[in-house]
Amino acid sequence: MISNHSHRKDEHVSLAEKFYQPNSFFDAVRFIPNGLPKTSLNQIDISTTAGRLQFETPFYIEAMSGGSPRTKDINRRLAEIAKETGLAMAVGSQSVGLSDPSVSDSFTIVREVNPSGLIFANIGANHNADDAKRAVDQLKANALELHINAAQELVMPEGDRTFSFINHIESIVKAVNVPVIVKEVGFGMSQDIIKELQELGVQYINVSGRGGTNFATIENFRRPDKEMTYLENWGLTTVESLLESRPFQKHMTVFASGGIQSPMAVAKSLALGASAVGVAGYFLHALIHQKDEAVISDINNWKYGLKAIMVMLNCQTIADLQKQKLILKPELRDYLKQRQID
Ligand code: FNR
Repeated sequence: MISNHSHRKDEHVSLAEKFYQPNSFFDAVRFIPNGLPKTSLNQIDISTTAGRLQFETPFYIEAMSGGSPRTKDINRRLAEIAKETGLAMAVGSQSVGLSDPSVSDSFTIVREVNPSGLIFANIGANHNADDAKRAVDQLKANALELHINAAQELVMPEGDRTFSFINHIESIVKAVNVPVIVKEVGFGMSQDIIKELQELGVQYINVSGRGGTNFATIENFRRPDKEMTYLENWGLTTVESLLESRPFQKHMTVFASGGIQSPMAVAKSLALGASAVGVAGYFLHALIHQKDEAVISDINNWKYGLKAIMVMLNCQTIADLQKQKLILKPELRDYLKQRQID
């Protein structure tokens, strides 16, 4: 018998793919080209440091999968691809894997396949510190993603209706001895929320903004009456969220995700201050339509593409890229003004 939890995991995968589409949110940000580069492609170093974490490559496979036989297979394939390409990888929420031992292998497979890889555990901020520690131990994880997903829960027919994220976040950050990354799931973060998180002791955030996978759309589709379409534009985009995070970037480590579909979006996110960038829907779409070898080749093309962009900006390191000046479209300048961000 497949449990309701496992069924939901499979539905999320199917619906994320059903609603997958290209986006142009990153067009609102432009680089200033440098036609006289002083660096060559083979001199470019795309490794990045994000707080206590070292990434070989600044983009990674974001949290999606686990909790059912189908999503075990997806995690196995993603882990093999991560191992082959040196990418870090997050698993989807381990909540079900902690309460139902029959599906815990859909998560542990990731560590089995990739014993020395950079792997992130994932759990909701509705869990307590004990669960958080178990999630990390289950994978011998290098970091824990703690997701905050109030909008998703409220649209989800069977979702939570009461929230005490703050208390849990505070105790989990104190109790867990790997970096704890507080992560949205595609609705973005404002500076007010980031400030609150900072005050709780959080040092790592993933703004995960609007622009890619949309859990308001996905969960609304799962509602019998499908009436909550009015929430489909809810949230701040990834670009807006990264701008919101600007005042905190000196003191906190910021990750981006949400609508990253090309090396250009990776480069722009890094230039907007992210230390590393998560990719979920795009990789899922690739995995569903292509064999592993083709996905690996696509990832290698992304690495080449990112290096090519860096040469065209005369940047040798990710730290150089993070210092690039950007041109913002008028709507983003207006956004900055309204939000009083420098
Ligand atoms: C997700 N995401 C997610 N996030 C999380 O923290 N825990 C989870 O269990 C899941 N589950 C999940 C399932 C599927 C099928 C998808 C596509 C995504 C959210 C994900 O990590 C990311 O924050 C958003 O999807 C935005 O990134 P993309 O998809 O636009 O690249």
